Amino acid sequence: MPQVTIPALAQKRAAGEPIVMVTAYDFPGARAAERAGVDMVLVGDSAAQVVLGYGSTVPVTTDEMLVLARAVRRGTETAFLVCDVPFGSTEVSDAQAVDTAVRFVKEAGADAVKLEGGSEPRLSRIRAIVAAGIPVVAHLGLTPQTATALGGLRAQGRTEATATRLVREARGVQEAGAFCLVIEAVPAEITALLREHLSIPIIGIGAGDADGQVLVAHDLLGITEGRAAKFVKRYASIGDDSAAAIEAYAADVRSGAFPAPEHRYAATDEALAAARVELGV
Ligand code: KIV
Repeated sequence: MPQVTIPALAQKRAAGEPIVMVTAYDFPGARAAERAGVDMVLVGDSAAQVVLGYGSTVPVTTDEMLVLARAVRRGTETAFLVCDVPFGSTEVSDAQAVDTAVRFVKEAGADAVKLEGGSEPRLSRIRAIVAAGIPVVAHLGLTPQTATALGGLRAQGRTEATATRLVREARGVQEAGAFCLVIEAVPAEITALLREHLSIPIIGIGAGDADGQVLVAHDLLGITEGRAAKFVKRYASIGDDSAAAIEAYAADVRSGAFPAPEHRYAATDEALAAARVELGV
């Protein structure tokens, strides 16, 4: 498969070919996404919750994200690699945002960075990062990094005020230079309107039909514990399967069924004799 590029993604949008994006946080996750032939891999800051065990995406740091991003880069060949910039790493100034974006490109080999929000300061960050030569994916609708300000993890664009803001911000991020937009937890009708009036590809998560879809890998694989969001479709039960496999291993260890003869190395008679001599037995 050829390398996925920004023009190739725009071409997919123009041709009405859905773009497939999935998150990955480590080498095996990246390999699975690559083997599945996805178009875009996102090192999402959802890593904070699904990999690092934090209660939200807010605490994860740039250094933590970079470790994950580098592992994903090592496993990604053709897919377009997008890295989330974490909360606190772009909020202070445009200069801080450019520094952070540059780190993801230089230290992790990111093809683009993803930034949440579309208020005027966020547009300024997008302009600055794009001016530094780094492609930006915008993220609007439910933006988990600022969920407290949104009144919680709730769908956006369902009221006059939030629909108006969403449309204004969507236009804003496109004008600021974002080449792609992720929208999360938004009514399908609003997504349809945005698709008509924006020219950049729109990747939806809980946003109905869009130019592409993204899901958190741990959600679709059934690794995440507890109730999934309404928009998640589970394709496997890896969490339950993992627990069952480790339980079976534990039972085998406790009963002596593991290791079996085929899992053991054999010593030569000479090696055994030498070991006995050394032990004096
Ligand atoms: O962090 C993440 O995984 C994301 C996706 C949910 C789009 O931002």
